[in-house]
Amino acid sequence: MRIVTIIFTVLISIASVFADESDYTANIGKTPPMGWNSWNKFHRGISADIIREIADGAAKYKLNEAGYKYLVIDDAWQASGLGPNEELVADPNKFPDGIAPLVKYVRDRGFELGIYACPNKLTCAGFPGSLGHEKLHAKQFGDWGCMFLKYDFCPTRSGEIGLAYDEVVRRFRAMGDALHDQDPRIVYAICEKGHAGKINRRTRKHAGITTPVTLEERLKAFSWCADVGGVMWRTTGDISANWDRIMSIVDEQEGLACLSGPGAFNDPDMLEVGNGNLTEAENRAHFTLWCMLSAPLILGNDLREIPKDVLEIITNEELIALDQDLMCKQAKKVLDQGDIEYFVKPLADGDFAVCVLNRSGQSQDVVIDWSKLGLDKDAYTVRDPWARKDLGVVKKQLLCTIGSHDVFVVRLGEAK
Ligand code: GAL
Repeated sequence: MRIVTIIFTVLISIASVFADESDYTANIGKTPPMGWNSWNKFHRGISADIIREIADGAAKYKLNEAGYKYLVIDDAWQASGLGPNEELVADPNKFPDGIAPLVKYVRDRGFELGIYACPNKLTCAGFPGSLGHEKLHAKQFGDWGCMFLKYDFCPTRSGEIGLAYDEVVRRFRAMGDALHDQDPRIVYAICEKGHAGKINRRTRKHAGITTPVTLEERLKAFSWCADVGGVMWRTTGDISANWDRIMSIVDEQEGLACLSGPGAFNDPDMLEVGNGNLTEAENRAHFTLWCMLSAPLILGNDLREIPKDVLEIITNEELIALDQDLMCKQAKKVLDQGDIEYFVKPLADGDFAVCVLNRSGQSQDVVIDWSKLGLDKDAYTVRDPWARKDLGVVKKQLLCTIGSHDVFVVRLGEAK
């Protein structure tokens, strides 16, 4: 009997060694990564001073307690050329002490630093890329202590629009392997935006393809990302702080839910909550939809001073709990009534999150009918996470009024 137990134990350990070898994402980013990225607010205008001030702001507002972890420096941190050994060099004017001291600064305040690189000759802002230097650059990131890499495909700058699908995947795998060897805990954020699968608007135009993108093409375009080690992957071109753009990005997520799950997430791009002229309702709707989609919550606003209404949105723990639900199910749109759309997200404890989106320019009276959403119970307990209010047991239908460009969200539980 003992011998059998020993053999069994040995087999189990061999199996887990192999599982560990082949499954990059086994232990990282099980729920969607949360953090902040410099691009949406600062674009190229970043520096060590700004990153330190952002870390101070993030600490002041206790964003780590809300779940935010990575502070990511996006493009334009680099010097204009590679160093003598082909290594990446930080711009000496913007980052005079390099990147490593910032890792410590950020870590001392309860966060981890992330960085940006590119699998082409040049990044999107025209700085040196990592093509052909994946191992060396991954080692630099690891040695500095960076725990997150955004790896952004930039075909335009490097004259590589139309590059073959297999070659794009090969490039992302090269960095995935290098990062994994360096430190498997580093979150690998793929930003390829559907170029290889020719669903990207620019790539499609370049290839002379005029037919609309099919769901099959969209699924193929991102089917390789988890396999090369991606914890998250951008499914769209760039977001902007504009309601119509946010809505078009939400539309682009339809049908992709099957790609997403624990440790592997569709990324509809970084948040614009608190940027531009988005209204409070638009900020709330944008944040809610990202939580419903189990999207990475990467803030894009200025963390040095956060207005009260914006802070309340980005730290609402009941909404964040929907995003961070352990089952990591991306919500599906289950009913479309034109301007009014209904999304349902199943949760790990058997509850459901229901989000009703009002895309129209007027407020709307809405009847939420459980049976029309594919929910099979007659009655549910209802909790409104924005109002932080229990609405009791509701049978069959719930009536609500939703303001223009706003959402109404409820968490439904079993009615005993
Ligand atoms: C774009 C990317 C943006 C930002 C920018 C930097 O390709 O989608 O999120 O990283 O490059 O140049």
